[in-house]
Amino acid sequence: MTQEELFKTLIAHCKEYGFIFPSSEIYDGLSAVYDYGQLGSELKNNIKRYWWEAMVRLNENIVGIDAAIFMHPRTWEASGHVGAFNDPLIDNKDSKKRYRADVLLEEYIAKLEEKNSKEVEKARKKFGESFDEQKFCETNPNVLRNAKKIDEVRTRMVKCLNDSDLEGLRQLIIDSEIVCPISGTRNWTEVRQFNLMFETKLGSVSEEANTIYLRPETAQGIFVNFLNVQKTGRMKVPFGIAQIGKAFRNEIVARQFIFRMREFEQMEMQFFVRPGEEMKWYEHWRNARLQWHLAIGMGAENYRYHPHDKLAHYANAACDIEFNFPFGFKELEGIHSRTDFDLGNHQKFSGKKIQYFDPETNEGYTPYVVETSIGVDRTVLAILAHAYTEEVVQKDGEEGGTRVVLRIPAPLAPVKLAILPLVKKDGLPEKAREILTALKFDFNCQYDEKDSIGKRYRRQDAIGTPYCITIDHQSLQDNTVTVRERDTMQQERVPIASLHALLTERVSLSNLLRKL
Ligand code: GAP
Repeated sequence: MTQEELFKTLIAHCKEYGFIFPSSEIYDGLSAVYDYGQLGSELKNNIKRYWWEAMVRLNENIVGIDAAIFMHPRTWEASGHVGAFNDPLIDNKDSKKRYRADVLLEEYIAKLEEKNSKEVEKARKKFGESFDEQKFCETNPNVLRNAKKIDEVRTRMVKCLNDSDLEGLRQLIIDSEIVCPISGTRNWTEVRQFNLMFETKLGSVSEEANTIYLRPETAQGIFVNFLNVQKTGRMKVPFGIAQIGKAFRNEIVARQFIFRMREFEQMEMQFFVRPGEEMKWYEHWRNARLQWHLAIGMGAENYRYHPHDKLAHYANAACDIEFNFPFGFKELEGIHSRTDFDLGNHQKFSGKKIQYFDPETNEGYTPYVVETSIGVDRTVLAILAHAYTEEVVQKDGEEGGTRVVLRIPAPLAPVKLAILPLVKKDGLPEKAREILTALKFDFNCQYDEKDSIGKRYRRQDAIGTPYCITIDHQSLQDNTVTVRERDTMQQERVPIASLHALLTERVSLSNLLRKL
């Protein structure tokens, strides 16, 4: 299966099994908006809990808040979003399709990079053991030509973006001979700036002064509460404020399922530090956040850092943690050193003094900020895409054929265990329900007595349940059950009395937290 086919299959699987549905589907859906179903919301909640516990519970100097989505409109002037939260967009006059100019260029660069990778692979096959990749890349004319082009396009693009040179961006698209993927033509409009914030009106009077915005990031709710939290919590710099919540952006290029949505959820933490110490903390959080990802267990090879080519208006250093999605390495989380831009501007725009008096140095200052910002939905997508597997079953005692299994790490799996009486009679359902009653307070369980045991295993595999507990006739005699593990399909017979401890050891979130 190609990565593209895998991605389509995954989207269908998410819908079929109650993970993710298109929003308001009975009205044909709403572009780039999705609803989480019964299993998707469990998975999302587990991810959020993992993040919250890792940030707030495990760090004595980080506290969590929950600020409102609506904020005073001046907030967004101070943050720079009214003036600078824009994407450069371009339309193709023939297809009438709209694109982000920088995305068109990045896709063009990605194609050139792919061409070079193919050249390298071809040569590797041809030359076998004796292949010297570095020498090949330094001498092959095709690879050299593409590499030069990549360099040129990237340098020009970054300069145009930094200088807000919209005509330059258009010229670069034309010079690179980029065509619209729909019409196949190069009939492009001018490039225009498009603000991504959604507006709405507060109260019943529709005047300009009542225009408010749906927050495009949760971070500002933290900045405006800096003094409230610092004073009431008696926090000492360095300290952090964490928050999980919805954010809204009127994305132009909204595709790739839940990767880029118009309504999404962020988990953000602002870490307030002494001016001059921000680079030390930037390094600290870059490492700590990667470790959080690695502890999930999806393989170090699937993550990489990507330093920003163009720094946002508030940053003096920034990088992304990228994940290897089915459509390539893309941003999953951003780590930004935001200087004193936000607190300083809120001080200016609100007229309220936002300063911290440092008892160690006996001086007052505006703290600098290092931010970690991760999308909940992108993390859901990363986990589901990595988990989705189709495989041929060769295990004794299991029905043959193929199975779809979601290998979601057990501590994050939506359902932790399925309780399955072998047959629907002879007192087995009653025994099974006894076990359910004992375990349901600590684990999300499903009870299922319908269909053959093989079919029930398959249903649980398809939703990523790590353990199936089967109650058979022997259970009535010696109070033991079989525990089947999802990935290996291995079964072990264990006393009912030891189930709770066994499951705690294998599925609890602290397994991930202890790796941090
Ligand atoms: N406060 C900084 C900030 O918002 P960002 O890089 O624009 O930075 C942070 O966003 C994270 O939020 C991204 O790494 C991504 O995971 C997530 N995110 C951003 N836009 C998104 C969208 N349209 N749909 C889903 N997730 C998004």
